[in-house]
Amino acid sequence: MAKIDLIVRRARLDGRDVDIFVSRGKIEAVRKSVKTLDPGDAKVEEAFGLTVLPSLTDVHVHLREPGFEYKEDIESGLRAAAWGGFSNIMCMANTKPVNDCAPVTELMLEKARRYWPKGPRLFPIGALTKGLKGKELAPMAELARAGCAAFSNDGVPIESSKIFRNAVEYASDWDRVVIDHCEDPYLDVAAGVNEGEVSSRLGLPAQPDVAEAMQVSRDILLSEYLDIPIHLAHISCKKSVDLIRFAKARGVKITAETTPHYLTMTEDFLEAEETEYDTNAKVNPPLRTEADRQAVIEALNDGTLDCLATDHAPHAVYEKEVEFDVAPCGITGLDTALSVTWELVREGVLTRETFIRAWTTAPCAIFNLPVNTFVPGDPADFFLFDEDQEWIVTPEALHSKGKNTPLMGTVRKGRVKTHFIAGKKIV
Ligand code: DOR
Ligand code: ZN
Repeated sequence: MAKIDLIVRRARLDGRDVDIFVSRGKIEAVRKSVKTLDPGDAKVEEAFGLTVLPSLTDVHVHLREPGFEYKEDIESGLRAAAWGGFSNIMCMANTKPVNDCAPVTELMLEKARRYWPKGPRLFPIGALTKGLKGKELAPMAELARAGCAAFSNDGVPIESSKIFRNAVEYASDWDRVVIDHCEDPYLDVAAGVNEGEVSSRLGLPAQPDVAEAMQVSRDILLSEYLDIPIHLAHISCKKSVDLIRFAKARGVKITAETTPHYLTMTEDFLEAEETEYDTNAKVNPPLRTEADRQAVIEALNDGTLDCLATDHAPHAVYEKEVEFDVAPCGITGLDTALSVTWELVREGVLTRETFIRAWTTAPCAIFNLPVNTFVPGDPADFFLFDEDQEWIVTPEALHSKGKNTPLMGTVRKGRVKTHFIAGKKIV
């Protein structure tokens, strides 16, 4: 065996007590735990009573820097990621300036290196079009060279199918996948409320599920025609899921993500009290109906939806404390995602296999990112997790600057105790 730098003792891995041996940042061996062990000069981490999970990957995060550091910055966002169990973070381009040129990408990477040199690893997503305006393609070769791992116009749907097609083709020349925010630009963009009973009762401008499904179908047809993969962001409704299932059965190279909020919340979360509304539940795409939620759960379990992502969208408290129609869309997610989705595993809503695939192997395969499957040679990215520790979602308990979550005040289960990336303790 190579020289061992770290031994994690008696961790619970999928029902077994194991010792994990790490050498030069990689998994060397995972063995059934033994009573006594001579560690030599290796560091020892006692994990008795704790669950070990491979670090998670989040391919859809808004870190807000540059330009909106009052909402979040790279230091605080990566802190929330580290404590949230994430080793790989892909951050969206809707910053100010937009990430549509190499200096912005470089700034993001430089900040990540400065504040979190041992990880979480940051993979910026370049803009698909200049300024996210949907008119001219961004310089993708330059962005890919600077370190962008994918391209997206997230937050702003692309109106022109011609420009979108060109973007998909051009991105594929640089071996990058396009992530599409699917929203028909002619149907009340970013309303943040599902069109239906709840929106009528509250008298709010709303967006129907077909606004999402229409662009999902466009993307499926384009992906099939071009024979190029397209990744669909934050899928929220049954109509989209049905289209994706049909497309996959035809062999279309489409992949898709959903978020913890579409698995656990519905439009009912908008009604905080009888006469009140909760702007923290305003998100784009909007929280949908119970039938949609069930369809999304089923699709994640059967693999129609490949992966989970948080769509972590932090906003300042004062920005959300306004009339509903002027409040920005978004839910902060990095701090709560692990507890919320692991609770679903404990309740039998998601299988453990689905959880692991959706947060680790699938996103890493789609975007070519490092992943730990506890096989020798894998990066030693894992965290020790107290499954039973209860905690209350309070502003202080969240590491992110974003406190905008409908889960505020609720009790969650499961806390990260310590997190290793490439064998180094990051928190
Ligand atoms: O709710 C959302 N918030 N959806 C998006 O697409 C963008 C995001 C943001 O940047 O706040
Ligand atoms: Zn989006």
